[in-house]
Amino acid sequence: LKDQGLTQIKEANDLDTLNNIRVNLTGKKGELTKVLRSMKDLSNEERPKVGQVVNEVRDLFATEIDNKKEQLQQAELEAQMQKEAIDVTLPGKESYLGSHHLINIVRQDIEEFCVSLGYQVITGPEVESDHYNFEMMNIPKNHPARDMQDTFYVDATHEHLMRSQTSPVQARTLEKHDFSKSPLKMISPGKVYRRDDDDATHSHQFNQLEGLVIDENITMAHLKGTLQAIAQHVFGEDREIRLRPSYFPFTEPSVEVDVTCFACGGKGCSTCKSTGWIEVLGAGMVHPNVLENAGVDSQKYGGFAFGLGLDRFAILKYGVSDIRDFYLNDVRFLEQFRQEA
Ligand code: PHE
Repeated sequence: LKDQGLTQIKEANDLDTLNNIRVNLTGKKGELTKVLRSMKDLSNEERPKVGQVVNEVRDLFATEIDNKKEQLQQAELEAQMQKEAIDVTLPGKESYLGSHHLINIVRQDIEEFCVSLGYQVITGPEVESDHYNFEMMNIPKNHPARDMQDTFYVDATHEHLMRSQTSPVQARTLEKHDFSKSPLKMISPGKVYRRDDDDATHSHQFNQLEGLVIDENITMAHLKGTLQAIAQHVFGEDREIRLRPSYFPFTEPSVEVDVTCFACGGKGCSTCKSTGWIEVLGAGMVHPNVLENAGVDSQKYGGFAFGLGLDRFAILKYGVSDIRDFYLNDVRFLEQFRQEA
C-alpha cells in the first residue's frame, strides 16, 4: 500500500487528481482507515506494531502530498504566466490621429497672429439679445440694415436671437472696459447665424472673426496697416489690399476690403472675375453712437473695427468649392487638411 500510494502521488499531474488520491489514501473512508479498522482482529502484540506502521505511512503520505501539491501549484502558476505573457516584440496597434477642422486651422492662425500684435481674444454668447446684436450696434428697430442680416429669433417677442454677427461682442466688451487703465485691442471669433437658403456659397451658419481697437488718436491708417498685415499673413507676403467705400450702421466711414487676387497676382483671372481683386472683409471707423451706447466718451476715444468671414478665408485660401462642407463634417473632407503639430 505504501509503495502504491507513493507512486500514485508521484504520478499525479494536476491538483484535482492529487486531492482525490489524498482522500483515497488518508481520508475517513480511505485505505489507511480501513487498515486501522481491521486492527481489532489482530493480536495484542501485532496491534501496536501495525498501528505504528500505519501512522508512519500516513505521515509520509501527508508530507509527500504537501510537496507534490507545492510542485503542482508552482507548475500551474508558471503555465499561467506563460499563457499571459506579453510579446513586447509584436508591432503596436496603429492609432488614428484626428485632424483639426479647417475653420479652426484658419481661426487659430489669425488668432495667433493678432495675439502677437497685442490683441486679446474675447468670446461672446451665440444666443444673443436683440439689444446687443442690433440696438447697441446702432441698428434700431425698423432700421433697413436689419434686412441685411435675416435673423433667427428664438422667442416670439423677438427679444432673443441667434447672433447674426460677432459685432455684439464689441458692445459687451466696450461696456466693461476701463479706458482710463488701457486701450482696447480685441478680436472675437465665433459662429453666427442667418436665415439663408443653403447652397455652395450660402450657409445659415458660418464663422466670423471680429476685430476692435479703441484708444485715443486711432486713424484709418492704423486700420489699413492692420488689415494689410493680416491679409499678408494669411494670403501671402506679396498681397496688397484696397479699401472701397461701403456702409455698416456701426462704422463711419465704412469700407469693404479687397486683396489682390492670389490666383493671378492681380492680373485678372476666373477666381477674381478678371478684376484682379477679391473682396475679403468689411471694416470701418467705429461709429460714435456705438461708443456712446456703451458709455465710452466718443470725443476722447475712437478706433476701428473689422469683421471677416472665416469660412470665406478658408474657401479662398484652400480652394474649397462648397461652404456646406464646413458644417456637414464628412471626415473625408475634413481629414484632407492636416496641420503639422
Ligand atoms: N458685422 C459685419 C457683418 O457681419 C462685419 C463688420 C464688422 C463690418 C465690423 C465692419 C466692422 O457684415
